[in-house]
Amino acid sequence: MARVFSGMKPTGDATLGSLLGALRNWVADQGPEAVYCVVDLHALTVPQDPDELRRQTLELATLVLAVGIDPSVSTLFVQSHVPEHTSLAWLMECTAAYGELSRMTQFKDKAAGQESARGFVSGGLFTYPALMAADILLYDTQEVPVGDDQRQHVELTRDLAERFNSRHGATFTVPTAVVRAAGARVMDLQDPTRKMSKSEESPGGTIGVLEDLASVRRKITRAVTDSEAEVRFDPVAKPGVSNLLSILGACTDRTPEGAAAGYSQYGPLKRDTAEAVAAVLEPIQARYRDLAADPGEVQRILSVGAQRAGTVAAATLARAQRAIGLVPGPR
Ligand code: TRP
Repeated sequence: MARVFSGMKPTGDATLGSLLGALRNWVADQGPEAVYCVVDLHALTVPQDPDELRRQTLELATLVLAVGIDPSVSTLFVQSHVPEHTSLAWLMECTAAYGELSRMTQFKDKAAGQESARGFVSGGLFTYPALMAADILLYDTQEVPVGDDQRQHVELTRDLAERFNSRHGATFTVPTAVVRAAGARVMDLQDPTRKMSKSEESPGGTIGVLEDLASVRRKITRAVTDSEAEVRFDPVAKPGVSNLLSILGACTDRTPEGAAAGYSQYGPLKRDTAEAVAAVLEPIQARYRDLAADPGEVQRILSVGAQRAGTVAAATLARAQRAIGLVPGPR
């Protein structure tokens, strides 16, 4: 089995989009070679409220467990618990070119957005891909399951690994991005041309994994469709209906086209989608409640995970430090 690494930021509450697009794949890839990380350091690229960040970090870790990651099989940890991530990130920043980092589309988009919204663009937002490269390379990762928006960062990681290896000798495994088929790309229910995001910008269009099920059903019933009356999967011409079909398909293990069969009206489609989503969320929410009732146990799981991750990370970091010419320290 391939060595897999993936990370998720603890910003905003996890949505149906993060569940169907990412977390369910984490469970599918689960195994002794899978490493999953709550990337709290990545969250710091934009200003965070400390209490909120703490709450959301533990909430996301608990949710990952609730969704089905078994800590006795895969490794689950919090990024800041393994300081090797920031140590290797510096070596990666010095391996990356300024121009290369400037070309990252996510940086350009986010910097433009931040500039207009809050007037503060952190240096971390710019160097973020170097930290992400460090996350991946520390574990000799072969496959990185990510959404399409992260493909460019994994490409950069490959370039950095290859550059480092050719300058300093074979040190890193060169990873590949694994971008799953579009089926589980969940869009905003009120504006189905944009991705369902964790932000609070579109409360009516976003479904939280831990959201009250009555509210979930209501939002799906009120989802934007179109003025035709034809149920067909066509994301360009019919983004709203297609989004419902993607969601229904993902929740019932069918393709969106397969999920469309038998529907001719939007009402029944919405009703069945709402029920299918509720059926997926209900057991996750129940397990979440059980886990959250014992936060000490979650903390214990995370510290075991950090120890396991730290052993691998320390060996890779030492290899990279030696290769680049740093004198071995006292530890
Ligand atoms: N940058 C990713 C995102 O915003 C999160 C992430 C950080 C990540 N490090 C990673 C994903 C390593 C995969 C591998 O979604």
